[in-house]
Amino acid sequence: MENQPTLFDLPPESTREKEFKQLRNPIWTENKAKLIECYLYYFVLITKHGTYIDGFSGPQEPDKPGMWSAKLVLESKPRWFKNFYLFEKDPTQISKLEALKTEIVNESDPRLKRKIEIYPGDFNELIPNVLATNPIREKEATFCLLDQRTFECHWNSLITLAGYKKNGFKIELFYFLTAAWLDRSIAAVKNEMILENWWGNSGWSALRGMKNCKRAKFVASRIKDELHYESVVPWPIYSREDRGRVMYYMIHATDHPIAPGLMHRAYHKALSPKESPEQFELEFAEWKGERSQ
Ligand SMILES: C[S@@+](CC[C@H](N)C(=O)[O-])C[C@H]1O[C@@H](n2cnc3c(N)ncnc32)[C@H](O)[C@@H]1O
Repeated sequence: MENQPTLFDLPPESTREKEFKQLRNPIWTENKAKLIECYLYYFVLITKHGTYIDGFSGPQEPDKPGMWSAKLVLESKPRWFKNFYLFEKDPTQISKLEALKTEIVNESDPRLKRKIEIYPGDFNELIPNVLATNPIREKEATFCLLDQRTFECHWNSLITLAGYKKNGFKIELFYFLTAAWLDRSIAAVKNEMILENWWGNSGWSALRGMKNCKRAKFVASRIKDELHYESVVPWPIYSREDRGRVMYYMIHATDHPIAPGLMHRAYHKALSPKESPEQFELEFAEWKGERSQ
């Protein structure tokens, strides 16, 4: 048992997808938001503070609020995330965000002093200026969700986020990559500039016809090599209806040595009742103790 990964470790690379498929409750599309919420719960228990950026923050399924990442993160406790920067282009979605903000502000303790900013417009155009005018400290733990539909997030925006901090851990990214429909989605695009902006150059054509898993690793390697993250791991998100087919990957890019293990734990535990902060801290302390022996 000595070499068995614990829930704070990453399993060995070669077994990862197989292992996930065998999980009793793998992460289905409808519980992706729970994965994000669970990861950020662990994140904030470690950091005790944080900034959450959501580039594409309107609800994917407006009738299912339990699947809306921004809502789950805003409602999550302990309320140690202090800054929320939420971007959205669609006016109907913006009004949903405004209503959510009002609800959260009304029921929050004003002493918390949380900053919840909604930026209406194109995330790609807005993000450089928002970062320039809302300086994030080098030591501020910052997580950015990039939950695009297919090709809306420009590569240049990833460069902006990854290059923002000069010394501290870079802004963490959680980036959506289509799996099941990527070839079809590429074929359906009429204006190639959409793909060029998404990929950052004309190299997107190399993705055609690749197997899902290989493509996810290819994109993860590119993020690691070009944006210089210490760890970049694609996490498969399955379809419940389609016999466990991988629908998409959420690619987690981070410099923090603990973060990949926290995501591993969240992936396995997102659907179980949350452990209390005390329980989590106890297990984490034991794990650290074992590592240092
Ligand atoms: C897949 S949904 C996000 C789902 C959401 N994360 C959730 O948990 O339900 C993508 C959202 O991004 C918005 N959007 C699309 N292009 C955008 C852009 N360039 N800038 C900002 N928002 C955009 C869409 O209107 C939509 O609300």
